[in-house]
Amino acid sequence: MRPDPGALADPGGGPAAEVLTGLRERRSCAGLAAPAPAPDELRAMLSAAMSAPDHGRLKPYRFIVVDGPARAALGDALAEAHAEREPSSTAADLDRVRAKAHRAPAIVVVVAAPQPHPTVPAWEQRATAVCVAHGVVLAADELGYGAIWRTGWFGEAPKVRAHLGLADHEDVTAWIYLGTPSTRPAPRPAVEPAITWLT
Ligand SMILES: Cc1cc2nc3c(=O)[nH]c(=O)nc-3n(C[C@H](O)[C@H](O)[C@H](O)COP(=O)(O)O)c2cc1C
Repeated sequence: MRPDPGALADPGGGPAAEVLTGLRERRSCAGLAAPAPAPDELRAMLSAAMSAPDHGRLKPYRFIVVDGPARAALGDALAEAHAEREPSSTAADLDRVRAKAHRAPAIVVVVAAPQPHPTVPAWEQRATAVCVAHGVVLAADELGYGAIWRTGWFGEAPKVRAHLGLADHEDVTAWIYLGTPSTRPAPRPAVEPAITWLT
């Protein structure tokens, strides 16, 4: 039997509905202040995010956490990469780039690490890393923290890659900025999905 479309927007009460509401209402937060999740909380969040679908259970990803004072060195690496790309950058430009590392008290870098496999292509393994990154964002939201997934060319810059210690086969899937929301966007209202029910 087909689900009643109305039920998608209002799945009724109970814990199952709360899960759907949590999923639907998640919002990204750009304004992030201290504190970041404590190390044990962060470990629990990352562990939960590892429930992502993973063909062959290859765990084709890893996490790099940049928090506290480590953000300064990351900021320097970002600035060096920027200076290399834009040789005419001013000191003020480079300071603005350095500040990117301080937009949140913690950054989780989700790294895709696809490995040669006879039946699981690299794109599927990268898809797992994407799902894991979304799991981290969801976990943060569920625990009352704020998170925003950012990307950009820095993950491809040799200076930044060297700073993160990335191997040649690894890519940055997500820079997840994490902290306590200083402003929280309004929860997302329910939207009707575009569905074609084949008969
Ligand atoms: C792969 C990916 C890369 C993204 N990169 C950026 C980014 O570099 N900067 C940014 O402001 N938002 C980026 N976003 C979007 C934000 O994470 C976020 O989804 C957006 O601000 C909308 O907010 P919402 O999640 O509350 O709908 C990216 C999202 C994805 C999935």
